[in-house]
Amino acid sequence: MEAVAVAAGLAASSAAPIPGNEARRYALRRAIHRIEKGLISRPRRPVFAADYIEEAVDAYCAGVGTCDADAQGRLQTWAHDVLEAYFAAVGSHPAVDRARARFDASPASARDQVDPVRPYTVRTGPLAVTIDGMLEMAVRRRSVRHYLPKPVPREVVDKALVVAGYSPSACNRQPFVFRVFDDPALVRKVASIPMGTAGFYEGFPGVAVIVGQLRAFRNPRDRHLIYIDGSLAAMSFVYGLESQGVSSCCINWPEIAEKEEQMAQALGLAADERPVMLVSFGYADPTAMVPYSQKKPLSELRSYNK
Ligand SMILES: Cc1cc2nc3c(=O)[nH]c(=O)nc-3n(C[C@H](O)[C@H](O)[C@H](O)COP(=O)(O)O)c2cc1C
Repeated sequence: MEAVAVAAGLAASSAAPIPGNEARRYALRRAIHRIEKGLISRPRRPVFAADYIEEAVDAYCAGVGTCDADAQGRLQTWAHDVLEAYFAAVGSHPAVDRARARFDASPASARDQVDPVRPYTVRTGPLAVTIDGMLEMAVRRRSVRHYLPKPVPREVVDKALVVAGYSPSACNRQPFVFRVFDDPALVRKVASIPMGTAGFYEGFPGVAVIVGQLRAFRNPRDRHLIYIDGSLAAMSFVYGLESQGVSSCCINWPEIAEKEEQMAQALGLAADERPVMLVSFGYADPTAMVPYSQKKPLSELRSYNK
């Protein structure tokens, strides 16, 4: 099942760059990320990215014309500003010069982001969030399976998703989407599919399915990144909810053919899309119990230099 999705992802990621093509956006995001890394490297090499700059500019040019009021356009703005900084910094090389000419000839997209969207000096200094506050939240958060029959406002869910969206991901591809359900009938339908929700899914006010998109990758060696990146984002989502008083429970996605089929049907998944995990969420029923779930002591959790 996974192999089929990986193959579908590879086919999609090698398609020609066209504006609406999501694989193009994944490829562009990765290329721009690599260029940003080149720009911040110390010392910066006089010529870098020569082996993929033409492909990057092609992917950029395919999206010209979108406005940054939408997601595609925001990517274009980032790509534009980074490419502009790149061509200002990089020396001459046949591939770079060809790409530069193509970039210079491309019409500018409309933008509503005023400030340049490109590498900047790291922000440091005190944060409102403290380690003690983080620890308090980590200790408070438990997997809660019983909720009040009260919807969670979408603004609350969306704030947690914005936090999730800032999670790190390999080459900044962000190869996942959150499919959120808050319609009671749909929540029941989706939440009943995995095995680990038996006996309590009917009380979920909401559930999110984190869906990985294998079209983000050109090489099967990267196929595990949907799970790694998707899980990092899931944890950020969980803490984003918890910080607003909303409890949650991660739910396993087992690889079982029949379940895969059911979820694919319920969500209308594309051939390269795979569920990474689910997260149920809601306001905790104050009478509900949670397992103690003892954690490993620090001495067992970590080691240094060995
Ligand atoms: C990837 C993953 C899958 C999980 N799957 C389920 C599940 O299917 N059903 C369930 O009730 N809990 C599930 N959990 C919750 C775990 O049982 C829980 O995180 C663990 O027992 C520790 O408890 P805590 O989250 O309260 O610290 C899952 C957690 C993770 C991270």
